[in-house]
Amino acid sequence: MSYNNIITEYAEDIGYITIDRPKKLNALNKETISELHDAFEEMEQEEEVRVIIVTGSGEKAFVAGADIAEFSDFSEAEGKELARKGQQDLFDFVAHLSKPVIAAVNGFALGGGLELAMACHVRVASDNAKMGLPEVSLGLIPGYGGTQRLPQLVGRGKALEMIITGGMISANDGLSHGLVNHVVPQDELVVFSEKIASKMAKNSPLAISAAIKAVNANYQESVNGFEAEIDAFGSCFGTDDFKEGTSAFLEKRKPNF
Ligand code: COA
Repeated sequence: MSYNNIITEYAEDIGYITIDRPKKLNALNKETISELHDAFEEMEQEEEVRVIIVTGSGEKAFVAGADIAEFSDFSEAEGKELARKGQQDLFDFVAHLSKPVIAAVNGFALGGGLELAMACHVRVASDNAKMGLPEVSLGLIPGYGGTQRLPQLVGRGKALEMIITGGMISANDGLSHGLVNHVVPQDELVVFSEKIASKMAKNSPLAISAAIKAVNANYQESVNGFEAEIDAFGSCFGTDDFKEGTSAFLEKRKPNF
């Protein structure tokens, strides 16, 4: 598939998605959100892809937020629809993807940009990254899951401080608050993310998918996470990956999933 606002690449078992609107600091307009949905869906279905790395074009920004120019004259109903559709098509979609997604945060991750990074399963930030949810400075609140996912990662107190001040924090502050998993020099960002991806890619794709599902269950209001874990654990026993993983261990060889 070809896209206007993103670049997709494939190398061995990794799928790469680069958000490519550098002149607008990779801001997410509707078309970009829709293309991202399609690219994630395409990579989820592509059997060769085990892990997805998403990053931003250029050295300045991962994503500087939703495209403000696009919604500046929206009504209440349009605003609500924007948030609902965005959450369904991209942010929840990524969070619940059956393959792991690593956000390689290469610069500003603001508003929808930080929300996209938070929807990913792992975040690696370059040392120049700056992160925040500045929506209140626009008379808005975060609408792509930021009010929910930020407290999950950094705790309620720090999340409320970040959301209400609308301020940005550095990559190292993000690391100390649990917002990002790692901070690396900018020129090592992709290679470092690939190292994590390779570790993931050696493991059972079916077990990884079940693990993502079980962890996500903790954050779903109507779902008992412990029950979800029991179900997912049990279902692993019916898979070829389980047979291969346990046989390989007993035969003292590496598994081939
Ligand atoms: N939506 C639309 N356009 C955006 C954008 C966004 N979220 N963020 C940046 N841009 C555009 C700017 O309008 C500018 O376009 P122009 O050259 O056509 O005027 C271009 O990207 C470069 O941005 P600029 O503001 O000139 O860069 P800067 O280095 O001075 O500042 C930021 C960088 C990130 C601090 C600043 O762009 C910013 O505050 N962006 C908005 C962040 C935000 O509020 N995000 C949440 C949205 S809900």
